[in-house]
Amino acid sequence: MSETRIGLLGFGTVGSAVHRLLGESAEAIERVTGEPVVVAGALVRDPSRRRPAPDGLLTTDFARLRDDPSISVVAEVMGGIEPTRTYLLELMAAGKSVVSANKQLLARHGEELFAEAERRGVQLRFEASVCAAIPVVKVLRESMIVTGVHRIDGIVNGTTNFILTRMVSAGDTYAAALHEAQELGYAEADPTEDVTGADAAAKIAILASIAFHTRVRTDEVEHVGIDGLDLVDVRHASALGYQVKLIASAMQVGDAVCARVHPCLLDADHPLASVQGAFNAVMLRGSSIREVILEGPGAGGEETATAVIGDLLAVIGTSGTGFLQHDGYYRELRRLPLDELRSPFYLRFEVDDEPGVLAQVAQALAAESVSVAQVVQHSGRGVHIVILTHTAREGSVRAAARAVAGLGFSRSAPVALPVLVRSA
Ligand code: NAP
Ligand code: HSE
Repeated sequence: MSETRIGLLGFGTVGSAVHRLLGESAEAIERVTGEPVVVAGALVRDPSRRRPAPDGLLTTDFARLRDDPSISVVAEVMGGIEPTRTYLLELMAAGKSVVSANKQLLARHGEELFAEAERRGVQLRFEASVCAAIPVVKVLRESMIVTGVHRIDGIVNGTTNFILTRMVSAGDTYAAALHEAQELGYAEADPTEDVTGADAAAKIAILASIAFHTRVRTDEVEHVGIDGLDLVDVRHASALGYQVKLIASAMQVGDAVCARVHPCLLDADHPLASVQGAFNAVMLRGSSIREVILEGPGAGGEETATAVIGDLLAVIGTSGTGFLQHDGYYRELRRLPLDELRSPFYLRFEVDDEPGVLAQVAQALAAESVSVAQVVQHSGRGVHIVILTHTAREGSVRAAARAVAGLGFSRSAPVALPVLVRSA
């Protein structure tokens, strides 16, 4: 009886879960594909580490997988840029299709990797690289290929949403919540990628590229993470009825695109406001689809493995390059400056408690045509003036904040967070 033999690059949190789930679902997979799917080998750095792997499965010899003609498809779940990029190019040159969970690699080198896939007539699939178990890549690449999505807003990093949830609802410290996210296998090998927004930046670059049919690279995505977020702003926002979430957004306006990652305030009735723990959610908007929201587990070994296996089976179940590989309609679009984005803003000024201060803050905002919707003053050791603005140009809000920062009564750098509104 024939069988499909696959290789794994990596046997860590995700790789070992792929191996285990393939074993547990062997009967169902055989029913779907018509033949057994067998893992022929898994690449690791240190095979002596204790882990649940059958004898002979683990190897440190990449060439053993690359040069095995019986292996038709390889799942890359090892992460990193090099040697991973070289390995994928060599695998495709050897005629093997590749499935990858590596958002940083795809967001940086996607163009080169897809060109190689096309040249070699093999497939490169990457569902697991964005939002783990949520099939958002398939939805954008297949279901909505010509639908015209013009805006994406999402919580696309499980670790930071887990940390924020724990800090707000359980009162955990930032450090304790991050440690727990690492223990649960949510965080990247280097968790600064999660907390600085770099992981989310790579993911929104991938989603923007496939939604708008243009190459958006991760280094173009301005990202602000939760590492600089002050819990006091989360509390002030909560008092005003808002949740603070790390939001990745991308939009196309005419022939311009932009993508960014930033902590944002969400009104309590915003669909992303209720996303808790390591769950992710992505809101897609377009004139015909209006609003489609996908929500589910955004990190974790088993959750991510489901997406890797879905891609493996899709490769096995299609031949040649399949229609998904044809991206000839990619084009160059100009970049929309972030200063031109418009939304309401949350502003927090830490100031001296003196007469006339509020008037000067209002004056600085008025000078930039920023209109105030709500003002709250919190008094404690210092005074916090918290302002919600009406919809305003981001560049004007930041200019007004800079002007206030330069006034003698300002005690610390002003905080300016966009408020995500559903109708944007
Ligand atoms: P992990 O637990 O650190 O596992 C990485 C595996 O790759 C380990 O088995 C490691 O070998 C192997 N490896 C790394 N560098 C290697 C090299 N140069 N040569 C040979 N083997 C190497 O990582 P993970 O959490 O499974 O994540 C893997 C990938 O999936 C990353 O791209 C990550 O961004 C992505 N991802 C992860 C999640 C998640 O929730 N964890 C979700 C979505 C996507 P050793 O065991 O010998 O060190
Ligand atoms: N570290 C990532 C996260 C894993 O927390 O979202 C999923 O890509």
